[in-house]
Amino acid sequence: MTIIPVSGGAFAAYDVMVGRGLLAQAGKHIAPLAKGRTVIVTDETVAGIHAQALTASLTAAGVKSEVVAVPAGEGSKSFAELERVLDRLLEIGLDRKDVVIALGGGVVGDLAGLAAALFMRGIDFVQIPTTLLAQVDSSVGGKTAIDTPRGKNLIGAFHQPRLVLADIDVLATLPPRQVKSGWAEVLKHGLICDAAFFDWLAGEGAAGAAGDPAALERAVIRSVEIKSAVVGEDEKEAGRRALLNLGHTFGHAVETEVGFDEGALAHGEAVALGCCMAFRYSAREGLCSAADVERVEAVVSAAGLPTRLAQAGVFVADRLLALMAGDKKAEGGALTLILARGIGQVFVAKGVDADKVRAFLIEEGATA
Ligand SMILES: NC(=O)c1ccc[n+]([C@@H]2O[C@H](COP(=O)([O-])OP(=O)(O)OC[C@H]3O[C@@H](n4cnc5c(N)ncnc54)[C@H](O)[C@@H]3O)[C@@H](O)[C@H]2O)c1
Ligand SMILES: [Zn+2]
Repeated sequence: MTIIPVSGGAFAAYDVMVGRGLLAQAGKHIAPLAKGRTVIVTDETVAGIHAQALTASLTAAGVKSEVVAVPAGEGSKSFAELERVLDRLLEIGLDRKDVVIALGGGVVGDLAGLAAALFMRGIDFVQIPTTLLAQVDSSVGGKTAIDTPRGKNLIGAFHQPRLVLADIDVLATLPPRQVKSGWAEVLKHGLICDAAFFDWLAGEGAAGAAGDPAALERAVIRSVEIKSAVVGEDEKEAGRRALLNLGHTFGHAVETEVGFDEGALAHGEAVALGCCMAFRYSAREGLCSAADVERVEAVVSAAGLPTRLAQAGVFVADRLLALMAGDKKAEGGALTLILARGIGQVFVAKGVDADKVRAFLIEEGATA
C-alpha cells in the first residue's frame, strides 16, 4: 500500500491510500475517524458488487454502518437525490461526529461529498472511489457538486475528504470502456507535468488501459501524486489548478454537442480527443513540435481512445466556439485554454484569439 498525503494552506491534511485489497481493510482505516456511526452512500450497481465487503470490514472494526443507495448514473447528481440522501441522514439520526462514506464512482463521490458538506454545516466524509476516473481524479481535491438542467456541476461546495481509500482490486469489476475512459485522465496527468510518466504510460504501463492491476496501481499512484500536488498549491482554482483542465475545454464543448450521451462519447473519450486538439492547436501556434503531436496521438490511439473530431460526430465550428467561450472556466468572455510547450509542459493561456480557434476547428473538420 502507498500513502500519498494531501495538504494545502486552507484545509486539514488527509491521506490517499492506494493498494490492493483495501476494501477489506477499510474498517481499520476508518475506525479512528468514526467516533459514532457511518453512512455508506453508494449507487445501486456498486452496492450489489462491493457494499457487503465494506460493511463487513466496518463491522469487524466495531464501526456501525448503514447503506443509502441512489440509482446509478449522472441523473443522481440532482437536487432530488441530494434531498433524499440528506433526509435519510436525518432519519438515521446522524450527528456532527459521524462520518459519510462515498463508495462509488465520481457521481457518488460528488453527491455524497456535497451532502456531507451541507449536513449540519459540514461533517467528515471518506472517499472510497470504485472507478478509475474517481481514483485518479474526482475523489481527490474536494470539489463536490450536483447538476441542474442549466448545466453540470453548477451547484456545489469545496469539501475535502478526511481519507481516500483507492482499492485497485475493485476496478476488476469495472466495464472495460470505463477503464479506458479513466485512462484518459491518467494520460492527461502525464501530459500536464510529467514526461517520464507519459513515457512509461506509452510503454510498459500501457497495459493499464486494458485493466492490468500492476500497471493500474502505479498509474493511480502517480496520478494522485500529481493531482494532490496541484490541489495543495491551489485548492480553489485561482491559478495552477486550471492546468488539470487540459483537454477539457475542447472536450466539454464536444460532449455538450453530443448531449452528454455517455454511450456515444464517454467523458474520458472527450478528454482524450480534447488533449489531442490542445496539442494540435499548440503546434499550429508554434508552441510545441509536430513530433509531440504525433506522439500524443499515437499513445491516445493505442489506448483505444479517439484522437480526431470526426470520431466523435459532426460539429459546427461556431457552436463549439460558443460553448468553449461560455464554459464556466472562461473568464470575462475571453477564451482560456490549456496549451502545451511540449509533453509535460502545459500552461494556462488567457485571451486566446477566438478567430484563430474558429479557423482551427474548421481545419479539424467542423463545418463553417
Ligand atoms: N469532483 C471532481 O473533482 C470531479 C472530477 C472529475 C469528474 N467528476 C464527476 O465524476 C462523474 C463521473 O464519474 P464516473 O466516471 O466515475 O461515473 P459513475 O460514478 O457514474 O460510474 C460509472 C458507472 O460505473 C459503475 N461502477 C462504479 N464502480 C464500479 C465497479 N467497481 N464495478 C462495476 N461498476 C462500477 C457505476 O454504477 C456507474 O454506472 C461526473 O459526474 C463528473 O462530473 C468530478
Ligand atoms: Zn475529466
